[in-house]
Amino acid sequence: MTSGSLSRALVLEEFGALPRLVSRPVPEPRPGHTLVRMLAAQVAHLDLNVVDGAFGILPDLPAVPGTTGCGVVLASDTHPEGALVRVDGKGLGLRRDGCWADHALVPDAAATLVPDGTDPALACSFFSPAGTAWAAVHSVAGVRAGERVLVTGAAGAVGSLTVQVAARAGAEVIGVVGRAAKLDHVPAAAKAVLAAELSAEAVGGPVDAVIDTVGGPVLRDALGLVRPRGRVALVGYTAGREFSVDLADFLLADVSLLPVNLMTRGREVAADAERMLGELAAGELTLPIERCGPDRLAEAVERLRTGEAVGRVVLDLA
Ligand SMILES: NC(=O)c1ccc[n+]([C@@H]2O[C@H](COP(=O)([O-])OP(=O)(O)OC[C@H]3O[C@@H](n4cnc5c(N)ncnc54)[C@H](OP(=O)(O)O)[C@@H]3O)[C@@H](O)[C@H]2O)c1
Repeated sequence: MTSGSLSRALVLEEFGALPRLVSRPVPEPRPGHTLVRMLAAQVAHLDLNVVDGAFGILPDLPAVPGTTGCGVVLASDTHPEGALVRVDGKGLGLRRDGCWADHALVPDAAATLVPDGTDPALACSFFSPAGTAWAAVHSVAGVRAGERVLVTGAAGAVGSLTVQVAARAGAEVIGVVGRAAKLDHVPAAAKAVLAAELSAEAVGGPVDAVIDTVGGPVLRDALGLVRPRGRVALVGYTAGREFSVDLADFLLADVSLLPVNLMTRGREVAADAERMLGELAAGELTLPIERCGPDRLAEAVERLRTGEAVGRVVLDLA
């Protein structure tokens, strides 16, 4: 790469429309920043919320979305040249240009070294589902051995890792999916159940905890299956961001609704998530990943929006 070289970037020009693939100059290195040749970048629900202009933190346009990526250091005062890094945080893809580009200039603190040889798609995908699954199971729901735990969206990225983490904690896990095609994608550690068939009978009686990654009607149905003094950890809202409770029923049910927020818990679960990266790379844990080129962004977005995608969706920029 020489100064003035061109590089591909997906540029968002208008909220509500998809970013356009354009050629633009490679960003000029500057102090305090690391220039990264991106190899893979995640397409996550958070990124779609930004593209839609439907998130609490939004960039000035035009902007390059993409809150998480992985690539090789080209220039940096802090990180070794040639090192593989995950880039996220520090407002990437939110307040400043993100990872949906061949090159990204990121604050040094937004780059974290990952072991050489790690699959870049896995390196940019694991942290959010692994950290969220760990936080939901251990920090928020406080799952204990022998408990019965119901996980919704159990074939999704967060849901499938949540199933595995809860099973490792010694829980009996029931994994709920919205469509029959996903039943086979629920990790073997769980009993798979279709959301439309959710009932006390189908799940074998009351559960101690629900970890919900879907929201909407699935959450409402799952709530009715929790024993008194049980817990519901709320992770996501792919199927609906609004939820209402009848206060009389809620008090009678005596079930705690507990939010999970990886942004505030990222630090406390970082070491556990990093350990899970090793286990994912070794095949001891699984996280399905769908890959596509940046020219197929529209298709990737559609699969994610409709819920057809299985696991993480990643742009292959290599
Ligand atoms: N709280 C936090 O800190 C935090 C951290 C990470 C992620 N999240 C959120 O957690 C949620 C799950 O993330 P993820 O990465 O696991 O997503 P994912 O892999 O896409 O899984 C989400 C699941 O939701 C269901 N779904 C998706 N789109 C849908 C639609 N349009 N209508 C109905 N159901 C739909 C699908 O399950 P079925 O096909 O089985 O219905 C899908 O497997 C997202 O809302 C994400 O923003 C929150």
